[in-house]
Amino acid sequence: MKSKSTENQWFSNSIISWYRENPRHLPWRETQDPYLIWLSEIILQQTRVAQGLPYFEAFSKAYPTVHQLAAAPEEEVLRLWQGLGYYSRARNLHACANYIVEKLDGKFPDRYETLILLKGVGSYTAAAISSFAFGEVQAVVDGNVFRVLARYFGIATDINSSRGKKEFEALANQLIPVNAPGEFNQAMMDFGSRCCTPTKPNCDTCPLTHSCFAYQNELIDSLPVKINKVKVKERELNYLVLSCAGHLVVHKRGEGDIWTGLYDFPQFPQTFPWLGNLQLEATLYPKKYRHLLSHQRILASFWECSLSEKNLPKLREWCQNEGFDLVVEEEIDGLPKPKLILRYLTDREN
Ligand code: ADE
Repeated sequence: MKSKSTENQWFSNSIISWYRENPRHLPWRETQDPYLIWLSEIILQQTRVAQGLPYFEAFSKAYPTVHQLAAAPEEEVLRLWQGLGYYSRARNLHACANYIVEKLDGKFPDRYETLILLKGVGSYTAAAISSFAFGEVQAVVDGNVFRVLARYFGIATDINSSRGKKEFEALANQLIPVNAPGEFNQAMMDFGSRCCTPTKPNCDTCPLTHSCFAYQNELIDSLPVKINKVKVKERELNYLVLSCAGHLVVHKRGEGDIWTGLYDFPQFPQTFPWLGNLQLEATLYPKKYRHLLSHQRILASFWECSLSEKNLPKLREWCQNEGFDLVVEEEIDGLPKPKLILRYLTDREN
């Protein structure tokens, strides 16, 4: 029988061999620059590689250094982020760049302990940056890693519990080889997302099946164990799309919600508002939009109302009183918007 440490070593070597035979050339793997690696990791938090790639290209081209990112206006950063969702990450990214330039003299933190102090950087991201850029022995533990370890080692602890997180973290840190920590982390991410996938994993071509607990015991579909605690709320939104002589009424979202700083439209609870003595009438856009957030399922309706040019001064006054902005239609493309709004505007144009 193999000893535990021999088996662990065999597992790590096999994962790394698989990775070397199935390489993916991703731009953030070609650099040791912690700023660029950090940028890629923030973009890749909850975003697939294929979707994140063009954003990484755009950000690294627009802001090749942390100084350039810090100097950019927040609205421009949010506009580049448009479509990725979780806009607080873009605001944290920008705030972080400013913090590094102003407080750390532009020098990127170079250890796990100091990286994790950055806004938006949790244990996963700190482990990724410190291992890729500085060769620190810190294992990344995310959904991919939970799945691979739960299946291979047959661990049935709930991955949403703090006990489970600790258990998987401890195991991953035992497995990570000191001579190739960054490569092992990349390998685990890729192995989890391309071979040991959540559904229909590629066991046929997997080199680990003969000692994989889940495979040997037909438990692939039962592991990992994940007990869901998050209750998802249904929320209906009614948007008023008010246009007048080539202008549109938009609403910049204030502090304290997921869309802070982004533009959408005025919402109304039950009845359409009055503009002075003018009762608005609107037509329902035939398509409704579903939008999935981590804690909410949104169903949005868009009510369209077009006013004649003579109402422009009245509309302007109304916008001022209600805290809305009146923008020329062509300008709306340059404003950062939630994906939901972007989808509607794209459909409306076509
Ligand atoms: N997901 C998160 N970080 C990643 C990385 N560095 N490479 C591939 N996928 C990732």
